[in-house]
Amino acid sequence: MRLDKLLESTFHYSRKTIKRLIQTKALTIDGELAKDLSQVVDANVQTILVNGKRVGHDSQVYYMLNKPSGVVSATRDSHHQTVVDLVPNHKKDVYPIGRLDRDTQGLMILTNNGPLGFKLLHPQYHVDKVYEVVVNSRLTDKDCIAFAQGIVFLDGTVCKSAKLTIISAEDNRSVARVTIAEGKFHQVKKMFLSVGKKVIFLKRIMFAGIVLDDRLEVGDYRELYHNEIRLLLSLVERNSHK
Ligand code: URA
Repeated sequence: MRLDKLLESTFHYSRKTIKRLIQTKALTIDGELAKDLSQVVDANVQTILVNGKRVGHDSQVYYMLNKPSGVVSATRDSHHQTVVDLVPNHKKDVYPIGRLDRDTQGLMILTNNGPLGFKLLHPQYHVDKVYEVVVNSRLTDKDCIAFAQGIVFLDGTVCKSAKLTIISAEDNRSVARVTIAEGKFHQVKKMFLSVGKKVIFLKRIMFAGIVLDDRLEVGDYRELYHNEIRLLLSLVERNSHK
């Protein structure tokens, strides 16, 4: 369908209004600015946003939030703001897939697709998560080896092999990237504690192949693009045949 026909039928916009939306850069298709009224689009396959509101989407919604520190990964909380409070249009429906600690920042996916969230968190699916980490002392190759071999917590819990990449290392501050395929409670912090380091900053930058959009300010969210939704759904479908 032509873009102008879609917007006329969905929002009853005039051609003049649609032209203005294009000129004022309020209209995007899969993250790219719309250029032409006659552009052929498919709202079932592409993510078409008018001032951030999706056109013609089905009943399932998927959001990417850049979670700020201080906000809890829950649907409600009597003391703190929740990640759901930050996605106001769907306050009642959506819930976060997985948890980040209150002081952890970064990528949080929210959806009202219950089975998807359940499956992605199930150990059977062990999806990769990537974190940026700052710790309070010098990381070394020895730490990378320990992560690769599988960290053992003080209580004897054994973690799966994880990838630690050191970005910078100084005596009282190191920056690194860590990839894990599990979701144990406080996992990253405890892994570093096991090698004698304290995490002083933690930010998730990837979940199940979805990368945190670096155009999202802390606290902002956007709908997932079609290709990102497809990636999540295909991951679950692929693994259910294992
Ligand atoms: N690991 C942690 O320790 N905290 C998080 O929030 C996520 C992973």
